[in-house]
Amino acid sequence: MDYFPLNHPIAVFDSGLGGLTVLRALRERLPQEDFFYFADTRHLPYGDRPEAFLRQRGVAIAEALHRRGAKAMVIACNTATAAAAEAIRAAAALPVVALEPGVKPAAALSQRGVIGVLATTRTLHSERFQRLVANHAHHVQVLAQACPGLADAIENDGPDSPQIEALLDRFVAPLAQAGADVVVLGCTHYPWVADGIARRMPAGTVLLDTGEAVARQLERVLLAGHLQGGGAGRLAMATSGAPAPVIATVDRLFGQKIKIEHWEPGSD
Ligand code: DGL
Repeated sequence: MDYFPLNHPIAVFDSGLGGLTVLRALRERLPQEDFFYFADTRHLPYGDRPEAFLRQRGVAIAEALHRRGAKAMVIACNTATAAAAEAIRAAAALPVVALEPGVKPAAALSQRGVIGVLATTRTLHSERFQRLVANHAHHVQVLAQACPGLADAIENDGPDSPQIEALLDRFVAPLAQAGADVVVLGCTHYPWVADGIARRMPAGTVLLDTGEAVARQLERVLLAGHLQGGGAGRLAMATSGAPAPVIATVDRLFGQKIKIEHWEPGSD
C-alpha cells in the first residue's frame, strides 16, 4: 500500500469535490498544515443514500484515515455529518471536526425573518437538522429546499452547464419568491454555483457557507490537542472512484492539476 508520505496530515473527506470549498478555507487559515483529501466519488451522491449506509461508510472511512496516519479529520460534507457525525466521533480514535448548515448565523442575520436553506434531501430530513432549526431558528421562517441532482451535476456537468442553470431555476426561485434575504449553502458543493444562486436572488441577499467557521474550529481543536504545525502546506488527494474524471474535475474547479490516487478505505 502506498501510504501518504507524511506522518500526520489532516484528513478531509466528502462524497466528492464539494469539500474542496472547505479545504480552500482550511489551507488559507492553516498554511503550515499538510492535508489529505478523500473524495468518496464511488458513492456520490450521498444525499440520496440511506442513513445506515452513510453511518457505516463514515465509520469505515474514519478508521481507515486513522490507520493511514491522519492526526485529525474534517467531515467536509453536511450530509455525512447529518447522518453519521455521532457514530464517527464514537468510533474514531482521532479528533473529528464536523460541519452543519449555517442556520444559526442565518437566523441572526435575517432582517425579514425569512431564510432559505439549500441542502440535500438526506440533510434536510435528518433529526440533526430538525434540532438545529428548533434550537436556533424557531423565531424565523425557514424555507428548507432540497436540491436532488445538484451535487452530481456540479461534478459531472460543471458549474456553468445548462443542466445546472435548469436546476438552479427550479430550486432557487421559490426562495426569492418567498422573500428570503439570507440563503444558507447547506451542502459543500453549492459554493461552486454561488454566482448562479446569487443571480437568482434580489441584490443584497446574503449567501452563507461554513468553510471559514470550520477552519476556525479546526484551529481550536488542533491547539487544544497540541496537534498544530509540523507540515509544509502539502496536499495529497485520493478517490474511491476512477481517478481520471476526478483529476479533470479538480482541474476545472480548482484550477490545478493534482495527482489523485485510487484508494478504497479498508483495503489497506
Ligand atoms: N457535499 C455534500 C454535502 O455537503 C453532499 C453531496 C452529495 O453527495 O449528495 O452535503
